[in-house]
This record gives sequence, structure tokens and C-alpha cells, in this order.
Amino acid sequence: MRIDSQSQISLEDVPVTVLAESYGTPVYVYEENRIRENFRRADAAFRKHYPDFRFFYAIKCCNNLAIANILRQEGAGIDAASVNEILLAKELGLGGEHVMFSGNFLSDDDIRQGLESGVIFNLDDASLLPRVLKHGKPEVLSFRINPGYGKSSLGDFVTNAGPKAKFGVHPDHVLAAYKAAKEAGITRFGAHMMPGSCMIEPEYFELITGLLMDIVGRVGRELGITFEFVDLGGGLGIPYRHGEPALDLDETAKRIAGVFRKKVAEYGLTPPRLMMEPARYFVGDAGYLIGRVHTIKDSYTRIIGTDVGMNTLARPAMYGAYHHIYVNGREHEARQPVGLCGQICENTDYWVKERPLPAGTAIGDLVVIENAGAYGYTMSYQYNGRLRPAEVLVNGARHWLIRERETFQDLIRTVRVPEHLRPAAG
Ligand code: LLP
Repeated sequence: MRIDSQSQISLEDVPVTVLAESYGTPVYVYEENRIRENFRRADAAFRKHYPDFRFFYAIKCCNNLAIANILRQEGAGIDAASVNEILLAKELGLGGEHVMFSGNFLSDDDIRQGLESGVIFNLDDASLLPRVLKHGKPEVLSFRINPGYGKSSLGDFVTNAGPKAKFGVHPDHVLAAYKAAKEAGITRFGAHMMPGSCMIEPEYFELITGLLMDIVGRVGRELGITFEFVDLGGGLGIPYRHGEPALDLDETAKRIAGVFRKKVAEYGLTPPRLMMEPARYFVGDAGYLIGRVHTIKDSYTRIIGTDVGMNTLARPAMYGAYHHIYVNGREHEARQPVGLCGQICENTDYWVKERPLPAGTAIGDLVVIENAGAYGYTMSYQYNGRLRPAEVLVNGARHWLIRERETFQDLIRTVRVPEHLRPAAG
């Protein structure tokens, strides 16, 4: 993103005014070069400290195939949370050991289709194993382990391990889980965890890697299992507030690799491939949401009404998450504390209550919401009959529509009205 001396904002080299005119608002826009830079920076840091390393992209955070293809080109595999995400990976030409299926609380249908797809099966609980075996034997099996501790800078909402999380195999059940899998004739194994999201402390990553490796090490030693890979999950954080520190990737990779190697040696394991499956780090800061100011109300306070709301970007209403907001053409102006909201009939859609924004913000202005690339579009919905926005990719001065804006037809396409309820024709 660039802002010129007149406060005109461009994403790569495309002015947001051009993007808004070409595609309407609200619109998600992704910078291709930023995604590539993010991936390369992270990949280089981890490979430097542990050469047998691979990233899988957790496609749940932004599932547009254009975006996922960028990460595929860079060398990422795919972490899939559902059968449909396995199918998305297939659209990218990826399957087998390039895809990890980490669903949770799966149905028998999920299990059957997951198994048939031939991807790495990552089980969220030991109780799933007999159900999987009813359908067949996965070529490579791993368990998602709850290492007993998890954390997120966003709070409990995205703390995915520890006693209060619904995810992963309880640490005391892990040995029995792998033992049962081995006895069932499975020969190729991995291990996985995903304890939290949006973390920036290198010590945290060192701690969780140590916790996981103590569990993995004991299982490997007691059962004589060779772990082909250990996947540390996602969680690489980005700063949402200006002035917040960024993740020190080199230090994080160094600490992870350090404790990983130490535990591998301590337990006498064959060194496994090290994997991670971040999402936010790759696309979070490469995505922006452009909206337009449509109404300004001077009530108890001034409220700026835009077409960006909890339906287009759910994070503020869902988690109290912070996103920086720019007003195109006005960033150099004096500021005044105002509210900002969307168009949904819920007061949670009044998601900025008092933030210093440019005092001259007027109807017709464009607002640009930062760090909207991850968990933005994929968590948008149609409440109040508001339709999902378009998605656009920019690279230099070029731009492409990568997902059409929904139309009214999309709202009713899957609906069926029984004969006796239909209004009389004519
Ligand atoms: N792997 C698994 C199994 C996951 O469940 C997730 C995210 C990731 C990887 C990627 O995590 P990341 O690198 O992005 O931290 N909606 C929330 C975030 C939920 C995270 C869910 N799992 C948000 O908007 O902040």
C-alpha cells in the first residue's frame, strides 16, 4: 500500500479510486507481490535454521483459488479443514502428501471422503481411529495433539489448545492413540498441533515446540515409531495496531529449530521433516477491504456509515478485533473521534465507537481497512440480505477480478419454496 502527498491510497500501483470505480464497494483487494514476499521471507527464515522444512497454507483464511495458487507457486502445500477444502486443493492440482486434512469432530461422510481423497489424515481424537479404519487405512496418519497449552494474542476466541480448547488429542491419550494405529498396521506417521493464532513471541513458539516434542519423543521411543514429519500448526502473527512489534521470524525459526533438534537428539528420533501451516502471516497484511461512506449521522456522537460491516468483515464484531482504517484523500487532515459502522441491523455492527478519524470525512469517501486478507472474505456472510463482496488481485498496475460480487440470484439460488407456500401466479 502507498499513500501519496494528497493522501491518495494505492494498492500496489492501482489507486483505490480506480478499484472502487471498476469493481464497486465493498471489495477485498489483495497485493500479489506482498503475498509472495511474505511467503519467501518466512520460508527463507525457517529453511535457514532447518533445511528439511515445508509450509502448508491453511486455506481456511482466504480460500480464493487465485490467492491459493500464488502460494502453491511459491511451494506451499495445503492444510484443509474440511472435505470441500480438500477439493479446493485438488483444484490447485494438489493432493496426496501435499495436503493435510485437519478437520475436527468429523462425520462418517467426512471420514470416508477424506480417506478416499488420499491426503494426509490428521485425526483430532483417538476415538476417530476405529471409525477411519472401518473405511480403510490411511497411507500416512498423524494426530493433532493438544500439548496442554495454547495462547492467542486475540484472546480465548482463538486459543486452540489447553484444557479449554475443543481441539486435539489429550496429552495423556496420545501414546494409546499411536499404539492403536500401529497395531492396526499403519506404518507411516506424523504429528501435529495448532495451539493458537496470531502470536509474535519467539519464546511462545519455542515453548510449544518443546511441549509437543516431549510428547512425540516419548511416543517415538516407546513404540519405535518413526515420525516422518512434525507440523507445528499456524499461529505466526502480524501486527494489527500501528506501532505493535512485528514477529521476529529469524529468532522464531532459530528457537523452534533449536528446541526441535535438541528433543530429536534427546529422544533418539530420526530427524522428522518440520512443517508449519500458517495462514494469516501470508495473506493477512496483503489484503485490504475498500468500502464507501454512504451516510453520516450526528446523534449522541458522529457515526460514519459505510458499506463495510460485520457481514463483510466479521472479526471486529466477533472478537473485538482491531483493524486500522484509512480514509482516502483525507489522511493529512485533522482528526476527531467518531464512530464507524456498517449497514446491518445489529448494534455489534457499530464496530468502531470512538476512533480519531479525519474530521472532514464525507459521504462518498472511500475507507480502506487494513490487514483484511486473512479471515476476511471467508468469514463474510449474507445477513440482512447483504451480499458478499467482490475480490480483486493487484500486481503492479494490473488488476483482476478474482471473485464476482454476489447478486440477488445467489441469495435465492439454493432456496426451494414448497408448492403450497408459493404466491399465486400473476
Ligand atoms: N492450522 C489449523 C489447523 C488451523 O485451525 C488454523 C487456523 C491454521 C493452521 C492457521 O492459523 P494462523 O496461521 O492463521 O494463525 N478467525 C480467527 C482465526 C482463527 C484461526 C483458526 N485456525 C481470526 O480472524 O483471527
